[in-house]
Amino acid sequence: MAKREARENAPREVIDPGAQHDDAPFERSLRPRTLDDYIGQTKHKENLRVFVEASRRRGEPLDHLLLSGPPGLGKTTLAQILAHEMGVELHMTNGPVVEHKGALAGLLTKLGKNDILFIDEIHRLNPVVEESLYPAMEDFHIDVMTGDGAFASSIQIPVQPFTLIGATTRTGLLTAPLFSRFGHIIRLDFYPEEDLARIVERSAALLGVKISPGSALGIARRSRGTPRVANRLLRRVRDFAEVLGSGAIDDAIVARACERLDIDPAGFDEMDRRLLRIIIEDYDGGPVGVETLAAALGEPRDTVEDVYEPYLLQQGYLGRTPRGRIATRRAYEHLKVPFVTPPPSAKQKQLFDE
Ligand code: ADE
Repeated sequence: MAKREARENAPREVIDPGAQHDDAPFERSLRPRTLDDYIGQTKHKENLRVFVEASRRRGEPLDHLLLSGPPGLGKTTLAQILAHEMGVELHMTNGPVVEHKGALAGLLTKLGKNDILFIDEIHRLNPVVEESLYPAMEDFHIDVMTGDGAFASSIQIPVQPFTLIGATTRTGLLTAPLFSRFGHIIRLDFYPEEDLARIVERSAALLGVKISPGSALGIARRSRGTPRVANRLLRRVRDFAEVLGSGAIDDAIVARACERLDIDPAGFDEMDRRLLRIIIEDYDGGPVGVETLAAALGEPRDTVEDVYEPYLLQQGYLGRTPRGRIATRRAYEHLKVPFVTPPPSAKQKQLFDE
């Protein structure tokens, strides 16, 4: 019990892609500013290069763009790069912050020609606000009600042509009318190790810390396919290198830092292992409903679905079935728990006998 309590209280800042904390200024300083500096997501990057060039030639705003994917993969970074490449201003806000139509009108009327409005967590927009976004996206105007009762009428206020960049962790959370108004939909994938290693090397150079290619790959492998995690882990490893080593980052210091931070060779921390262990040990390998899993972890369902699960699913440690999550053989092997195939249920047996 004491062990589990200690695990439950383990800090998660290093590998939680959602965690921002006081690393945010550093993270910003490591962000690429141009498409040329941006590593990875090559297909999307090259397409965006074409769309930017076409829009610039026509003197028009980029088509509205929806960026989706787990936290930390570079949605905000891409929005900043696109504003830079288009030579326009970026105005940033967050879905739940835009509380009413007036707040949205305030934002939209401040936009300059072809500017970009970035709305993070766009799936969390208030439905009334969302609806007043539609005419702005389609025809660059907002409808404002004036007068009361029998004297009420609506007037149209024009806004400058602009690009809306919406960011969301899952496109499935968007309403169909909003989703259909985006001209481009880009789903960001987890980064392969080689791309993450290049990001780590670039960041190390910006931070002025020496790192061998093998050690950059070692950090990349433990970063859950996520640049934000890689950069944060790099900074923590640098702390260990400066205090316990020579200042340079080598394989030994990466291994030592990860051991001290409780990050295993797959890049999992206690939270990932706890999630898998709950399914295996408390629910015989699953299926477990996501609500039950979230309650057992003591985390909101959204955090489980947006932050913890995607990488475990993508890497094949976790499976999704209509009746809930299951731990795969890979999860058993990772946790060194013997894999036993659960006996078939009565229903499965019946199907088999037929
Ligand atoms: N830092 C964070 N994400 C990055 C990326 N995709 N390319 C280069 N540097 C980064």
